Amino acid sequence: LPFSPLQMTYSVSELGENQTISDGFILVGFSYLNELQILLFLLLLVIYLVALMGNLLIILLIKLNPSLHTPMYFFLVNLSFLEICYTTNVTPQLLVHLLVDHHMPPFVGCMVQMLVFTTLGLTECCLLSAMAYDRYVAICRPLHYTTIMSGQACALLAGVSWTIGLLAESAETMWFFSLPFCGSNRIPHFFCDIRPIEKMVCADTWMNEILGLTVSVLFIMGPFVLILLSYILIISTIIKLPSAEGRRKAFSTCSSHLVVVTLFYGTCIITYMKPKSSYTPESDHWISLLYTVVTPMLNPLIYTLRNKEVHGAFRKTLEKTIFSHN
Ligand SMILES: *[C@@H]1O[C@H](CO)[C@@H](O)[C@H](O)[C@H]1NC(C)=O
Repeated sequence: LPFSPLQMTYSVSELGENQTISDGFILVGFSYLNELQILLFLLLLVIYLVALMGNLLIILLIKLNPSLHTPMYFFLVNLSFLEICYTTNVTPQLLVHLLVDHHMPPFVGCMVQMLVFTTLGLTECCLLSAMAYDRYVAICRPLHYTTIMSGQACALLAGVSWTIGLLAESAETMWFFSLPFCGSNRIPHFFCDIRPIEKMVCADTWMNEILGLTVSVLFIMGPFVLILLSYILIISTIIKLPSAEGRRKAFSTCSSHLVVVTLFYGTCIITYMKPKSSYTPESDHWISLLYTVVTPMLNPLIYTLRNKEVHGAFRKTLEKTIFSHN
């Protein structure tokens, strides 16, 4: 029998019957790994803690160092904050599930997780394109940089990114969960992602596909095109620079961003731009792990490892802490 989660949770609380539906979804996750789940647990626990500490460290370092109070680092703080929320939405629950056998998030829990996940994903697309725009202005219009990228402009760009993510995904998630669901409530995945739940909807889903496609094209591909455009302009400016040293320096200010964009959009395109028919849950488990658990750990590393400004700020902060203790 088809059932609609939104209406069903309502009628279940009204009538107090139909236990199987009120029990919520069953996340199958990695249970096929059996004893190996413990190994995966340990590995993911370490990665999660490193991701948390790395991103917190970046936020602290930037907040504490006036030399890093520039638009690029303002966006980086926002991105690190986003990454912490993003991985915390999925990883702690996954860690518990790897240890405990029964995984039954209630419908509302599943819906909230999907809403948070998609909102943060969309916001990240927009933030990454705001960061690309920042790099474009810095390299192609350096004389106007401070007037164009004022504090207000940065706050506005970040604010718009968060608003777009929240509005578009609230609408999509609410609509999605008002559709009828059929058959088994087992989700062959480790968290409430769009793709596996989409498979459980039994209404005619062409509307859903069109809505999903519209959101993807507008808010995922749109920012991507803006990023591409920025980099085309950036690269054409860089190759015209007279000195090799100048070219190297200009490029080094955007290389971290370029790596982060490639990682994010690479996994995003592999997962969500595939046609629905070629989707198999098992093949997507590992790539999902990559973008929910591993990438949030990589971003702080990418931004700090070869960055002299961050190294300098780190040294200064350490010295200050040590001297203030003596
Ligand atoms: C990110 O940007 C938004 C919008 O400007 C702002 O309200 C929020 O405080 C920022 N978050 C952090 C952690 O800086």
